[in-house]
Amino acid sequence: MRDSLEKEIPYIHFKDVTFSYPGKKEKLISKCNFSIKKPGFWMVVGKNGSGKSTLLKLINGIIKPKNGVVYSNANIGMVFQNPDHQILMPNCRSELLININQNISDYKVAQRIEYVLDQVGLTGFEKKPVHTLSGGQKQRLTIACALISNRNFILLDEPTALLDKTSQLKVLKTIKDLTSDHIKPLSALWITHRYEELIYADAVAELKNGFLSSWNEPSKFQYN
Ligand SMILES: Nc1ncnc2c1ncn2[C@@H]1O[C@H](COP(=O)(O)OP(=O)(O)OP(=O)(O)O)[C@@H](O)[C@H]1O
Ligand SMILES: [Mg+2]
Repeated sequence: MRDSLEKEIPYIHFKDVTFSYPGKKEKLISKCNFSIKKPGFWMVVGKNGSGKSTLLKLINGIIKPKNGVVYSNANIGMVFQNPDHQILMPNCRSELLININQNISDYKVAQRIEYVLDQVGLTGFEKKPVHTLSGGQKQRLTIACALISNRNFILLDEPTALLDKTSQLKVLKTIKDLTSDHIKPLSALWITHRYEELIYADAVAELKNGFLSSWNEPSKFQYN
């Protein structure tokens, strides 16, 4: 399970990043500067339409800045708001298999499937049809898919927006455990509307008027 990527600490660095969608005059992201240089649970809040999803698209390179530079060495995985838009296969095993992007032995495949399902609290779910999973279980399957493809930095775009309270807490706890692992902590950037989730974060920033605020401890975070 080790490769050269895992020895590097993943980072993301925005330098004066500006972005607007074609045909729109106003800058949605404007001279945005921030860094994430160590593993942990990083959260971003912001109002509807403030550009949170756009920020994630800039991070993973789906769109390019108009000005400025996005620096990153991270191997980025994405977890969307609605797992039904992301999951392609009929059962957990086949979904995980299409996310293994390396040529490894059947023995290793079995080992990794067991490992990632265990990591997200879905031990024994390998043969389960996806349609029998709850929303929270599906969301945790998408996280397992990101892990099995050896991602070291996961972007989560309002992953609990469609979930009930129980599933919300399970997904939050899954990421909290993965990002506070003593041996190999994950880096996760979590977008949310729900202010009650901020207490799980190691650091919180707000996206407002195209700027991302500095990172604060959740307890110091002031909503204004
Ligand atoms: N592909 C696109 N082309 C043009 N405009 C877009 C595109 N995607 C988003 N926008 C616009 O950019 C603005 C920010 O959108 P974005 O989805 O990044 O916001 P958000 O903070 O994620 O919102 P929400 O809280 O609703 O998820 C919105 O006004 C939106 O209409
Ligand atoms: Mg969004």
